[in-house]
Amino acid sequence: MTPPVQLLDTLTRIEEEGLAAIESSGSLDELEAARIRYLGRSGGLTDVLRRLGQAPAAQRPVLGAAANEAKRRLQAALEERAVALKRAPSTTRPPADLTMPGRRACWGGVHPVTRVIDEICEIFRELGFSRVRGPEAETEWYNFEALNIPLEHPAADMWDTFYLADGVLLRSHTSPVQARIMETHDPPVRVVVPGMCYRRDPFDATHAPAFEQIEGLAVDEGIDFVEFRFTIEHFVHRFFGKHTRTRFRPAYFPFTEPSAEVDATCGSCGGDGCSTCKGTGWIEIMGSGMVHPAVFEAVGYDPERYTGYAFGMGPARIAMARYGIPDIRLFYEGDLRFLEQFR
Ligand code: DAH
Repeated sequence: MTPPVQLLDTLTRIEEEGLAAIESSGSLDELEAARIRYLGRSGGLTDVLRRLGQAPAAQRPVLGAAANEAKRRLQAALEERAVALKRAPSTTRPPADLTMPGRRACWGGVHPVTRVIDEICEIFRELGFSRVRGPEAETEWYNFEALNIPLEHPAADMWDTFYLADGVLLRSHTSPVQARIMETHDPPVRVVVPGMCYRRDPFDATHAPAFEQIEGLAVDEGIDFVEFRFTIEHFVHRFFGKHTRTRFRPAYFPFTEPSAEVDATCGSCGGDGCSTCKGTGWIEIMGSGMVHPAVFEAVGYDPERYTGYAFGMGPARIAMARYGIPDIRLFYEGDLRFLEQFR
């Protein structure tokens, strides 16, 4: 006669084995085989139940209850597994290979010139400059006359452009936005203005007929050349690095007086002279100057009360200097082999 403790052990073992077999059955056929083996008429559990009668009467209720519990659990597991197997699309399908590398998605990236624009605007944002925009289709008044460039003056040739209609043209610089902002805002004004500009220029290694510019303008009472120079030097240090030096060269622009072209020491050679800087050690980064009183008059600011500085830079040229790119056309041809290097 089997001692009850042993019977209880057998019961536990049958239940564990049965549950494992149910769990691991990969098809409804396998599941049915497991059911027959553990719950069938001559299966493990039925056998135990049959032997119950031989146990001492006092133990029978306990053993009987345990056997029924085991049977209930096995049946529940069977039903659950059957539902899962029926839901699976195909029981013969191989399991997913989780080690397989994923398909590479085609990711876009920010264009290197756009990235340079964002970085420049961010540095000026820290100095209190807002980022604004203006129209690319512009009138002669804003592109020339408000900026102290009379239409018939030879200086206008520097900003020759494409006309869309009588008196309406594609702006040849972002400077017209200076006038637009001053007309609609009282001082103090501090803005940077990124945007596209258009010129009757050849498309060669250093020119593009459509290109980006960033205009800068600061106007308030008491702004002087020292503040201007300090601001630009701070910008150059932040953008090109602490060791970059700047130099202000006298220049001419109708909308500034005095005017200056600003150079930074060449990042490729550190100022010794190389092919990037054409042997000079310097890279020109912007045109600039103190805003001409005639511009203040054109927009209705009092030139006796207000002073300010303005500058205009070409982020594509700056990107060329920074990344050592020899030909500006690379930025505009859309060749992904080139652009992907900047992601
Ligand atoms: N607008 C000029 C150009 O396109 C650049 C420039 C020069 C902008 C001096 C300025 C400035 O604001 O003060 O060549």
